[in-house]
Amino acid sequence: MSSRFDYSRSSVIALALAATSSIVAAAPCDIYASGNTPCIAAHSTTRALYSAYTGALYQVKRGSDNTTINVAPKSAGGVANAAAQDTFCSGTTCLITIVYDQSGRENHLTQAPPGGFNGPESNGYDNLAGAIGAPVTLNGQKAYGVFISPGTGYRNNKVSGSATGDAAEGMYAVLDGTHYNGACCFDYGNAETNNLDTGDGHMEAIYYGDNTVWGSGAGSGPWIMADLENGLFSGLGATQNTGDPSITYRFVTAVIKGGPGNWAIRGGNGASGALSTYYSGARPSGSGYNPMHKEGAIILGIGGDNSNGAQGTFYEGVMTTGYPTDATENSVQADIVAAKYATTSLVSGPTYTVGGSVSFKATTAGYTDRYLAHTGATVNTQVVSSSSSTALKQAASWTIHTGLGNSGCYSFESKDTAGSYIRHYNFGLQVAANDGSKAFKEDATFCPQSGLTGSGSSLRAWGYPTRWVRHYANNGYIASNGGVHDFDAAASFNNDATWATSTGLA
Ligand SMILES: *[C@@H]1O[C@H](CO)[C@@H](O)[C@H](O)[C@H]1NC(C)=O
Repeated sequence: MSSRFDYSRSSVIALALAATSSIVAAAPCDIYASGNTPCIAAHSTTRALYSAYTGALYQVKRGSDNTTINVAPKSAGGVANAAAQDTFCSGTTCLITIVYDQSGRENHLTQAPPGGFNGPESNGYDNLAGAIGAPVTLNGQKAYGVFISPGTGYRNNKVSGSATGDAAEGMYAVLDGTHYNGACCFDYGNAETNNLDTGDGHMEAIYYGDNTVWGSGAGSGPWIMADLENGLFSGLGATQNTGDPSITYRFVTAVIKGGPGNWAIRGGNGASGALSTYYSGARPSGSGYNPMHKEGAIILGIGGDNSNGAQGTFYEGVMTTGYPTDATENSVQADIVAAKYATTSLVSGPTYTVGGSVSFKATTAGYTDRYLAHTGATVNTQVVSSSSSTALKQAASWTIHTGLGNSGCYSFESKDTAGSYIRHYNFGLQVAANDGSKAFKEDATFCPQSGLTGSGSSLRAWGYPTRWVRHYANNGYIASNGGVHDFDAAASFNNDATWATSTGLA
């Protein structure tokens, strides 16, 4: 080499640049483009999905003044600048208002409008996701996913370039494999353009969860299935396909593709290894499914008719035109694995020691003699002092446990009623016996962070990251800042949702 080449400074630089560009991994949409099945939409709050993309990934709105910022990758093709969000949202609450389309077609996802089912917002729209519910790291760099609670959803009904009718398309999404439920429907993909159920075959979307009303896979779920409208399909029919496995990965790559006469479900671990094919073959025989009647809207977190009872977490996903080859998808999976998704802490602020006890004192002026306590099943605030009875002190004391629904957060057992925990139910707080159900465990799990006022501690409901433990009219709620209920009132929100913590009073 050295005898044949002149290593002048400029040629060394040129060689270095060539080497650098050749080792820059193509991002998912570069890979789909080289497979002649380009992305028509690319959505991610965690990273750029084109190696050259430098534009906005998502928009957040903060509660303190309703202003917004766009969060972009830190570098071309890179990970989202989560620090920009953290700075902007410091001392207040934030919602994800827009997930931008990186394809250049402006197929952005925004708050889903009312449909066959209406959302919980006063105007019938779905809720927006809280901005901090799904923290992760990619190659060690912090980013946030879109944590979909029941009632939350995003949509675009005017999509440019998406598959309609029986035309071919592909899609993938990277999801949290541990965040799901059996309600309808945590979807990402192609849906009706009018928010209504317009019939069999009018959708083609990734579904993730353990719903068994239609199809199912092996074991007890959750499964990757396809929502083709009026049915979740694990294979040929809306029945059981034991080739569609229960998923146990923390990060899941879910793939659906469909073209004239055939379709496929593929999946794998989003943090290692390859994709497997769980189904590939003929269309379901039901009337509307062959040919398909795709309409071309894009939904996230809901069903095509805005059914919004499901939950799940979305990190990234794309829609393509054309039927991607398995080889193309396998390269995309390699890129996802190389992005190195990993978990990170869900909490911040004061230390909570499992096995210890804690009491929560209100910090709102005029209420600072009150503690979070309970009277029977009702969680409220009560005036407690050093001269109070032991019974009252116990009613205001809680034993700290590892979160029943997520080990990264905490659950609080009543000091005077062993086996009963603080849980939320219809957004009110209760003390209730642990019935062992997944719903109970999740509703009894809270993620503390540095107090919204800048001191003390605020407790986010794990399953509803827009909602915080708050006292309102001396009762306990999980409240969203400026939401539709009276207990969501924006006035005094930060103070009412910030607690001074101490070792349990009893
Ligand atoms: C934010 O907007 C909502 C709805 O438009 C409004 O009710 C609320 O008062 C606004 N909050 C602030 C702090 O401006």
